[in-house]
Amino acid sequence: MPRTVITFGTFDVFHVGHLRVLQRAAALGDRLVVGVSADALNERKKGRVPVFSEAERLAIVEALKVVDGVFVEESLEQKRDYILEHAADVLVMGDDWAGKFDEFSDVCEVVYLQRTPAISTTAIIEHIADL
Ligand code: CTP
Repeated sequence: MPRTVITFGTFDVFHVGHLRVLQRAAALGDRLVVGVSADALNERKKGRVPVFSEAERLAIVEALKVVDGVFVEESLEQKRDYILEHAADVLVMGDDWAGKFDEFSDVCEVVYLQRTPAISTTAIIEHIADL
C-alpha cells in the first residue's frame, strides 16, 4: 500500500517556503495530496481575500512535481473528513500549528515541519506594498 501524505495551506503568492514544505512533506511518503484553502475560508479566518484566486492557487500547487493531487479545503472543521476521504497515513503541518492537530493521531501520523525562516506571504505583500 502506498503511504499517502496530506497537508493543507493557502499557498497564496507562492514562495520558496511553500515549495520546501511540500518537498519535505512528499519525502515522508509515496503520494502527496494538498488541501488548498478556499477563498471564502481565507476571508473568514485571515480576514483577507487571497491575492491569487483559489483556482489559480490550486493550479500552481497541482503543477508541482512533488504534488500528486489537490482539492479545495472548504472549512477547517472538516480536516478529519479530508484525512479519511484521502486515506492519508500522515498529516503534515508547519510548526506554526505545533500541537494543534494532535487530535488526529488516532487516524494518522501527525508531523509538524519547521517553517523556512524569514519568508511569508504576508511579508511579501507588505514588502511589495512598500516599494
Ligand atoms: N510555510 C513554511 N515556511 C514558510 C511559510 C510557510 O514552511 N516560511 C508552510 C506553512 O507552515 C504551511 C504551508 O507553508 O504548512 C502553507 O502556509 P501558508 O499559510 O499558505 O503561507 P504563509 O506564507 O505562512 O502565509 P501567511 O503569511 O498569509 O500566513
